[in-house]
Amino acid sequence: MTSRAVQYRRFGGPEVLEVVEREDPSPGSGQVRLAVRAAGVNPLDWKLRRGLMSSDDAPPEPRVPGFDVAGVVEELGEGVTSVAVGDEVLCSAIGGSYAERALAKADTLVAKPDALDWPTAAAVVTGITTAYRALALVGLGEGDHTGSTLLVDGASGGVGTMVVQLAVSRGVTVIGTAGRTRQDEVRALGATPTVYGEGLVERVRELAPQGVDAALDLAGKGSLPDLVALTGSADRVVTIADGSAAEHGVTFSSGGPGQGVPGALADGVARLADGRLRAPAVHTYSLDEAGRAQDDNESGRVPGKLVLTT
Ligand SMILES: NC(=O)c1ccc[n+]([C@@H]2O[C@H](COP(=O)([O-])OP(=O)(O)OC[C@H]3O[C@@H](n4cnc5c(N)ncnc54)[C@H](OP(=O)(O)O)[C@@H]3O)[C@@H](O)[C@H]2O)c1
Repeated sequence: MTSRAVQYRRFGGPEVLEVVEREDPSPGSGQVRLAVRAAGVNPLDWKLRRGLMSSDDAPPEPRVPGFDVAGVVEELGEGVTSVAVGDEVLCSAIGGSYAERALAKADTLVAKPDALDWPTAAAVVTGITTAYRALALVGLGEGDHTGSTLLVDGASGGVGTMVVQLAVSRGVTVIGTAGRTRQDEVRALGATPTVYGEGLVERVRELAPQGVDAALDLAGKGSLPDLVALTGSADRVVTIADGSAAEHGVTFSSGGPGQGVPGALADGVARLADGRLRAPAVHTYSLDEAGRAQDDNESGRVPGKLVLTT
């Protein structure tokens, strides 16, 4: 059987993306094949497409972008007993999610609650898993952290919206940065908003005269010196997006294998289903519009989470 997938054969702008008809991928041992209903768009997708994470001129083979996915289990690989054909799930795909069919490891699947529609389910995967990890790294993991103050640079993004809500639910006082037009969104999440960029140190000192205990850079726009100045120590700052972290003595968390918080996605999804977490606004595109969706995410011109639907 064949199905449609977005792919690129060389690095570049959105124009290198093409929709092709390809053989359905076959699940290996411990894997499942999903009939994709929705695939989330993340900054990593266009960074990889641009070749920003590679020293080569082109990927070794045609590459299907995307990780975040929600869909229906369609075929089980060898040894898979934890899910059944027909189960509705969300997860991080392997080998690309911008497609009608995608593969995933069975042990990473989380059941999709009826309360989440397909686009929302696909939109939240990276935001949730990254938020749990980032908060744990700054000492604000599960538990009560009343009395702590956290500064979040990039609080209005896919990761930031989850970080803010989780931190607030743990009793943390949060100051979150966003663009001028997105201040109210950050306030609605439970944080005190301020704009990012020049003058950040002064603005945050005014908002938090008691000081800031920890800071998360979720934007990678050069704020690390400010975040270190505000917390008083590079040990209290973590970035997920700034490759110059080591120059500032700051931890860079890449999210590689084994770095995640066990059970994070399932816990976050349960919170979304019962209303303890609020889902981001979602904008949908077709597979044929993948380039525009990535471009809209890169430019930041469309707020909220961008999702491809099949
Ligand atoms: N290492 C990891 O594990 C990992 C995981 C996920 C994401 N990331 C990276 O983390 C970053 C954020 O991801 P995301 O999914 O949240 O992206 P996103 O949804 O596109 O959000 C981007 C965020 O950056 C903010 N921003 C834009 N310009 C800024 C500036 N000059 N200073 C401070 N903030 C600024 C945006 O604010 P406005 O929209 O209000 O302007 C928004 O809050 C990306 O670089 C992504 O690649 C890393």
